[in-house]
Amino acid sequence: MVGYKFMGKAHTHAYRDLPFYFDCDVEPVLQAVAGRDEEGVKEAAEKMGFATYETDWRRLIERDDIDLIDIVTPNNTHAEIAIAAAEAGKHILCEKPLALTLEDAQRMYNAVKKNNVIHMICHNYRFAPAVQFAKKLIQEGRLGKIYHMRATYLQDWIMDPKFPSVWRLKKEVTGSGALGDIAAHSIDMARFLVGEFEEVTGMMETFIKERPVADSSGGLSAKSESTEMEEVDVDDASAFLVRFENGAMGVFEATRFAGGNRNGNRFEINGSKGSIRWDMEQMNNLEVYFADDEEGLQGFRNITCTEEHHPFAGAYWPAGHIIGYEHTFINLMTELMKGISEGNSPAPNFEDGIRNQEILTAIEKSVETRGWVNVKQMRLVENV
Ligand SMILES: NC(=O)c1ccc[n+]([C@@H]2O[C@H](COP(=O)([O-])OP(=O)(O)OC[C@H]3O[C@@H](n4cnc5c(N)ncnc54)[C@H](O)[C@@H]3O)[C@@H](O)[C@H]2O)c1
Repeated sequence: MVGYKFMGKAHTHAYRDLPFYFDCDVEPVLQAVAGRDEEGVKEAAEKMGFATYETDWRRLIERDDIDLIDIVTPNNTHAEIAIAAAEAGKHILCEKPLALTLEDAQRMYNAVKKNNVIHMICHNYRFAPAVQFAKKLIQEGRLGKIYHMRATYLQDWIMDPKFPSVWRLKKEVTGSGALGDIAAHSIDMARFLVGEFEEVTGMMETFIKERPVADSSGGLSAKSESTEMEEVDVDDASAFLVRFENGAMGVFEATRFAGGNRNGNRFEINGSKGSIRWDMEQMNNLEVYFADDEEGLQGFRNITCTEEHHPFAGAYWPAGHIIGYEHTFINLMTELMKGISEGNSPAPNFEDGIRNQEILTAIEKSVETRGWVNVKQMRLVENV
């Protein structure tokens, strides 16, 4: 694993717990973690249960006892690490978004294909049992023809203008702001549940244009005593409209300025025969409405997706004994372990990463040109 803070903790936890719940032909072994600060990485290795540590990720990639490289570092490092890992024949799990640019995402995809390694991108939210169940309902035609998807990803962690300038607010490290960081998850959800995007038009805003230099940061927290200010050159908020290839309409909003919303990753989908709603902060539940329910009894019903026949849920607890955020990662990594033993790259993989990056790029282009942008026109290589 390269990096060991927010996602480092989430991924490590998942690797540790996975064999406890799922029987896989291959099992993760926490062999080594890499970080640049020796004291920090040594402490992380001890606390998280890695056998060894390295202070340069390149050492990790050179080692013969490592089969899988897990990239949980900021976005500007993903391409270099993933390409080197692929060239060394290592399987890869990479955090989202795949890269800073579509060109880098394409280079990463070319490298994993050329070297025939297994690859996945960590869009973990699609692995909530309720979301997997939503997919099953849609596939079975229970919602009929899909007309609408509206998705919001609402956070509020940078609303204080004194909140420091962390890596997520610097274009050269992160690529884009709320768009690449959180709308990317809604885009993955939309591609998973509704289908491919045809065209998009968007708007973006940066409300706070400069912030104090950060002294330290990790995940969504940071400290600063500094009076020195730095420019914020990414979006605080993004919104966009989508026309899907299947004719459905999409309305999306991602912001870090929606006060009171800590991690409001939500969607509603309406079809000719029914509707579904999901909210990450109530992630075990799926609200479902069927138009053919008896008159007088019609309305959204709330299903707690913890039963044996809800995907992944049977591996955990008896019905009604809920699971949480960390289990989305366990479920994703179970797919990764299966992929490694069977020799395929389960979705979402780097191809999904490229599709996602094409959409992010098209939205940025639409903001620049103040118009609609066809997503396929962003495509660098036709057959990927
Ligand atoms: N799937 C999700 O829901 C989700 C949630 C949060 C973050 N992420 C993604 O995970 C990645 C990491 O985000 P985070 O919140 O864990 O960040 P973080 O700031 O908490 O941790 C980043 C880690 O990377 C290390 N690092 C930075 N540059 C490095 C380098 N060159 N070599 C080695 N280590 C380096 C830092 O020291 C730190 O340990 C990002 O790509 C982010 O978009 C995904």
